[in-house]
Amino acid sequence: MKKFKKITALVMALFLLMSFAEIQSFAVTSIEEYQKYYETLDNTLVMLTPGKDATELNFAWHSEWSLKAPKVRLSKNADMADYVEFVGSTTFSENADQRVNNVTVTGLEENTTYYYTYGVNGDFSEPVKYQTHSFDSVKFVYVSDVQPHHKNDLLKESYLWNQSLESAFARNDDISFIVNGGDITHNGDYNEEWTAFMSPEYLRSYPMAAANGNHDKSGTTFTKYFNNPNAYTGIYPMSFGESYWFRYGDVLFVMINSIRWEAIGNLDTINAVKAAVEANPDAKWRVAVTHYDFYGPGPHVPETKVTEKKKMLVPIFEHYDFDLVLNGHDHVYGRSYFMEDDKIVENEGYSTGTVVDPEGILYVTASGSKGNSRTEGSYNYPWIAKDYISPNNCYSTIEITDDGQLKLVTVDAVTEKVIDTFNIVKTDFEPEYEENTFGLYGTLLKEYTGEYFIIFEMLYDLTLAVKRFIGRFVA
Ligand SMILES: [Fe+2]
Ligand SMILES: [Fe+2]
Repeated sequence: MKKFKKITALVMALFLLMSFAEIQSFAVTSIEEYQKYYETLDNTLVMLTPGKDATELNFAWHSEWSLKAPKVRLSKNADMADYVEFVGSTTFSENADQRVNNVTVTGLEENTTYYYTYGVNGDFSEPVKYQTHSFDSVKFVYVSDVQPHHKNDLLKESYLWNQSLESAFARNDDISFIVNGGDITHNGDYNEEWTAFMSPEYLRSYPMAAANGNHDKSGTTFTKYFNNPNAYTGIYPMSFGESYWFRYGDVLFVMINSIRWEAIGNLDTINAVKAAVEANPDAKWRVAVTHYDFYGPGPHVPETKVTEKKKMLVPIFEHYDFDLVLNGHDHVYGRSYFMEDDKIVENEGYSTGTVVDPEGILYVTASGSKGNSRTEGSYNYPWIAKDYISPNNCYSTIEITDDGQLKLVTVDAVTEKVIDTFNIVKTDFEPEYEENTFGLYGTLLKEYTGEYFIIFEMLYDLTLAVKRFIGRFVA
């Protein structure tokens, strides 16, 4: 029996050592090492985004101008034996001498190791490893406001951004993708800002779902670097990107363009959420991502452009019974109490950090992800349950398991300390959609138009119908 115990202890020690070795493969990089790597990069790096569900993966990359179809090859073997080839499409780039290549890979299986290569004109990249995880449960990293600025030290900004991801992936080997709350770059139209943003090697193996921020509006490049699924164009397309959605297990993710300001743009945004929810009536969890932080911890919250969007979007989140809304913009980490009708909901469990079947919506705001967090001090908003004032970059991991649990862990990527944890347990998965006496848009917008909004709703639906009718002939 003693011998058996010894062997068990030995096996356990070996197992721990192997796990440690696996983690150490993401060893912390020095800035000198990173610089050597960074100097080899340009804006032709490939970006992965989630496909419409866990079985798909989208690719986008810039290449030299040429009219050959882009291809991605996928294999379960490191030498690319028995690969399957996926052919995509090409479109104009923001640079005259480049084009943008988009490919969608389908038929992925869960918990499987893949290798991919991508290229045009028969010239393919080296194989890159891509690991899928469970398709029933999901764990993702949440970051925001990376926004490298071409007038700053881009190497340093890129290094700090990489540091956030390095910490996240060293602590978690079961991440499926990254969610980004927006302000991807500072100005949008500079290749070098995109190179800095895309530089972390993790982005070759982990897809990123990004929402558009106010800084992304200053350029027209957002759509060139992300090949997002289920984009909702509404009445007319936006040069800086659309709202879109994707599904992963029981969770619907709605990535919202919260920056549009025109009247029709607001209607399009509302309709994008409506379309996403109605396409996924069986989703047990609904997560929205908006750049503007309606119940955030920082100085931007009371600004008109944020409060106007809050009036527009919070009612639709409440109408469709969303569980979680992820935000950026303020560059300060904050977690709200559960909110409903602009009031704090008194759920049991705030003090223990675990709530069961809560009423209301939880709002989480990310800090800046490249050492650009605000440090002016706490604003003491009544809705804030936890904030973290520090110049350090932080990130959150959010895990939603198929047994109805959501686990939020937020880490300071510089000190490696866990700064916040919070759990939701859900046993009741039936959404409680609120009733609307004026129709959905009337309820949301009646403060602007009163009962006459129904006319705008009808006109909107009519315009969409005409657009689709014409689209049939154009196609
Ligand atoms: Fe920002
Ligand atoms: Fe912003």
